Amino acid sequence: MSEQLFKIPILDLKAQYRSIREEIRQAIDEILESQLFILGKKVESFEKEMATYLGCQNGIGVASGSDALLLAMMALEIGPGDAVLVPPFTFFSTVSSITRLGATPIFIDIDPGTYLMDPKKTEIFLQERCGPGTDGSELLDAKLRLRIRVILPVHLFGQCCPMDYFMTLAQRYHLRVVEDVAQATGAYASLFGQPRKFAGTFGDLGCFSFFPTKNLGGIGDGGMVVTDQPALGEKIARLRVHGASSRYHHERVGLNSRLDAIQASVLLVKLRQLEQWCRKRIERAQYYQSLFIQTGLIGNEIVSLPVPAEGRTHVFNQYVVRVSRRDELKQYLTAHGIQTEIHYPLPLHLQPCFAYLGHRKGEFPNSELASAQVLSLPIYPELTSAQQEAVVDRIVAFYGRQKA
Ligand SMILES: Cc1ncc(COP(=O)(O)O)c(C=O)c1O
Repeated sequence: MSEQLFKIPILDLKAQYRSIREEIRQAIDEILESQLFILGKKVESFEKEMATYLGCQNGIGVASGSDALLLAMMALEIGPGDAVLVPPFTFFSTVSSITRLGATPIFIDIDPGTYLMDPKKTEIFLQERCGPGTDGSELLDAKLRLRIRVILPVHLFGQCCPMDYFMTLAQRYHLRVVEDVAQATGAYASLFGQPRKFAGTFGDLGCFSFFPTKNLGGIGDGGMVVTDQPALGEKIARLRVHGASSRYHHERVGLNSRLDAIQASVLLVKLRQLEQWCRKRIERAQYYQSLFIQTGLIGNEIVSLPVPAEGRTHVFNQYVVRVSRRDELKQYLTAHGIQTEIHYPLPLHLQPCFAYLGHRKGEFPNSELASAQVLSLPIYPELTSAQQEAVVDRIVAFYGRQKA
């Protein structure tokens, strides 16, 4: 079924566009009149506004969230012999940013309730497998003989990770922290004396995506790296223009990975709406919860809802439930005009392209079970109560129709 045929799509970007159409058109028109498309003043304005909104010093606009991650790893000089701790249950490019540089991902399983990289398991790994290298300055994985350099937590589905725990580990073991914030722009935690410390501003580098489906999405690809460390910010700014320190002078090989002015001008318009869009997503998640609670399906191992965490927001880029007979339910909902998605059907340690890492099925059971059970339901700020009721009614009808 094509997207147009779904009565209730998983995301309706047209509804969002209708609400800001004139501003967007004007913003694009301004760029067309200027004929300045790559980097420039608009990109600088957007970088500044994002950094101000997030409460950090530097924002560097790049071509995508995937490039943001790759550039972050390049800025930290990650390469062969290095290892990065990362969850296997995430989008592909969280991990390809590591392997593309010849470094090795070391997978840490997720917490089954939140789907986020488990900090306790991270701590156990560091305690049990790692020790100082020969000169005492390096942290070596005793089994793989790799230098552990970075912790890379992913604020998956829009939920802020327990960054206080990860930051404590990073300090204790002298590790860098790169945050994958692609799905969680606008999420925050109340930590370190701050009522709102945004996801992406805890670690050394925070990597954002402006892919159209994200909470802050452009009209094409786009991304950003943020940091409070000016030296790292400057490094990334150079790396995104082929590693050039000045025009046609290259100290190292970088990428061509720049945010373009049309994306920046659209994102400037949308950034003003981000807070209220996140709030509406949260309200819709709360409404799903109240509807599901009335169904009697919760707590019977039939449907499990997202688990809210104390002091950390979830901005619901996806509303992910765990369900029994997931694939049948998905088919049934499709047949009734309700679009759903599976984020993600195969964890990364089992992807064919990472077979060389030698992982087996069963090694990361929480990630594998999540892959078999999760289902993302429609969620977006313009989703109506009636649509949400229709989604839940259909799910009730499915489990009522057949024995769960
Ligand atoms: C968790 C996560 N990381 C990284 C990315 C990569 O972002 P982009 O699509 O902008 O390259 C995405 C986007 O889908 C994502 O969801």
